[in-house]
Amino acid sequence: MRNEQIYEGKAKKLLLTDDKNVLLQRFKDSATAFNGVKKAEFAGKGETNNAISTFCFQKLEAAGVPTHFIERVNDRDMLIKRLDMIPLEIVVRNIVAGSLAKRTGLDEGTVVKEPIVETYLKRDDLNDPHLADVHVFMLDILRPDQLERLKQLALKVNATLDPIFERAGMKLVDFKLEFGLDADGQVVLGDEFSPDTSRLWDLETRRKLDKDVFRADLGDLMEVYHEVAARLGVLPQT
Ligand code: TMP
Repeated sequence: MRNEQIYEGKAKKLLLTDDKNVLLQRFKDSATAFNGVKKAEFAGKGETNNAISTFCFQKLEAAGVPTHFIERVNDRDMLIKRLDMIPLEIVVRNIVAGSLAKRTGLDEGTVVKEPIVETYLKRDDLNDPHLADVHVFMLDILRPDQLERLKQLALKVNATLDPIFERAGMKLVDFKLEFGLDADGQVVLGDEFSPDTSRLWDLETRRKLDKDVFRADLGDLMEVYHEVAARLGVLPQT
């Protein structure tokens, strides 16, 4: 298998395989926050996020959400379908937290009546600004029907995973998704689903079980990631 690297992000790498339509997605141990300003290494994070993402993608595929996931091939790698990635970060929110609390003045923990879907431009140099739909069209990122489909899928991800996390004793507060287009121009979920890219609170105590532990120095990040994996019944990683 070829393993030429074609992309390195803050938490993952993408490598070529012998099949031009298939990539290897490798989860790194690095964690960053505040657009890379804060950075640290956590031994085992890559393996844990690979396992949690695999679990989530399998649940989503079973629910009819098209994803790039093919299979988990080892501790830190999964095979994925190659997509033409859409330069948007799509955030779904069930509970007010993070930037939504800052932007609206609502208290963290306020329940959002209907889950909302937000669109941010994936541009580190601009600090990922929030976009209205008119800007998505103005920038020629997606057609209206594609944006509509993407939002529908984002809500379906929420409707699928929220009860699964709830049964595991966690509230899915919010999360970020990235989508791509396949060869037929169909919108497909890419990237990852992990505690790096979501907020998960203990249902009873509201203890944070996600990357906010790193962002705000609240404790041992790997301890909470292992707890998420254990609660989901994903094999504990060492
Ligand atoms: P926010 O409240 O900071 O806008 O974050 C909303 C959700 O998106 C939260 O679950 C964390 C996730 N997120 C990312 O995965 N990457 C990012 O760059 C940002 C800003 C947020």
